[in-house]
Amino acid sequence: MFHRTRNLLSKAVVLDIDGVLLRGGKPFPRAQDAMQLLKTARIPFVFVTNGGGITEKEKSLELTKKLGIDVTPEQVILSHSPFKHLAAAHIDQRVLVLGHERCVDVARSYGFHKATTSKRIHEEFPTIYPLRKPSSSPSCNFSGQPVEAIMIFHDPTDWGLDMQVVCDVILDRLQYKKDENTRTEQEQGQGQDPLQKLHTVPFFVSNQDVVYKSDHFYPRFTQGAFVEAFKSLFSNYNGGMDLKITYCGKPFKVQYEMAAKALAHEASLLGFRHIDTSKVSYYGIGDNPPSDIRGANNAGKNWTSILVRTGVFDGADGENDPVDPADIIVDDVYEAVKFIVRDD
Ligand code: G3P
Ligand code: MG
Repeated sequence: MFHRTRNLLSKAVVLDIDGVLLRGGKPFPRAQDAMQLLKTARIPFVFVTNGGGITEKEKSLELTKKLGIDVTPEQVILSHSPFKHLAAAHIDQRVLVLGHERCVDVARSYGFHKATTSKRIHEEFPTIYPLRKPSSSPSCNFSGQPVEAIMIFHDPTDWGLDMQVVCDVILDRLQYKKDENTRTEQEQGQGQDPLQKLHTVPFFVSNQDVVYKSDHFYPRFTQGAFVEAFKSLFSNYNGGMDLKITYCGKPFKVQYEMAAKALAHEASLLGFRHIDTSKVSYYGIGDNPPSDIRGANNAGKNWTSILVRTGVFDGADGENDPVDPADIIVDDVYEAVKFIVRDD
């Protein structure tokens, strides 16, 4: 009887990273103590962040160094981790990857062998972005192949070029300039772009957050800010045409499904033999109400959302977020873990 209770998983934790464990890349004073407390209490945990732009393995090494515990890649769910499941469908297709340059390596590691960037496309079609010349000559060995999906892996760093290229891909206008001479007279004379068609290229976004907490006093714009700006520009430019976007990252359910699977794996490594997910109390600790708290609140009945005051949320004592109220509000991640350990 004793053994059965000991082997029955009762609690599991999802931890946000920026604004909860780290700020501006540096750990909060009590972050390491919080991790030790979880380990001592034998509570499985995983990290679910809307950050990314590196592989799960690289993030696990960074966390290992900063949090004073061993973190494995299986414990890390990045905003773009669900993209792995899309790779098989796009394996031979040219895919436009947005984010800093190294995101292409991440995309290739997921299986998007023909990942490309706005910069490469600009090299191929120098006139698409008149504000500057491409910095090098075409270097992509699958140039000429159409772009068949757009995927934002991380915060775009070159908004002007990225917006122009994404718009051109959606409206199928990359090839247009190249083949201008081949357009028929009718096509040229109508004051209407014959190549403009409804958006059929799938557009995937990995992080809807508009802001996050870095080491600046006020929150900083992130991927969702780019997407909002692009949606507005696109609609304004195309007579109110809406964009079809598929999102992942928090607060979307796919992230919590991946987390629950990863937590079951962690629990089995800790020796838990009986994992009845309907009987597990899941706790989601975060600092950003529309992301972490909404995600945990919508993840299922047995999820408790815990909001910390070290990040985006800056409500006074006794205040909750009016749109995405948390179940529990505490000062920092250490208090959050203390609450979880004691909670019955
Ligand atoms: O949205 C940007 C990202 O850095 C936020 O990360 O860990 O707070 O979900 P996190
Ligand atoms: Mg956060």
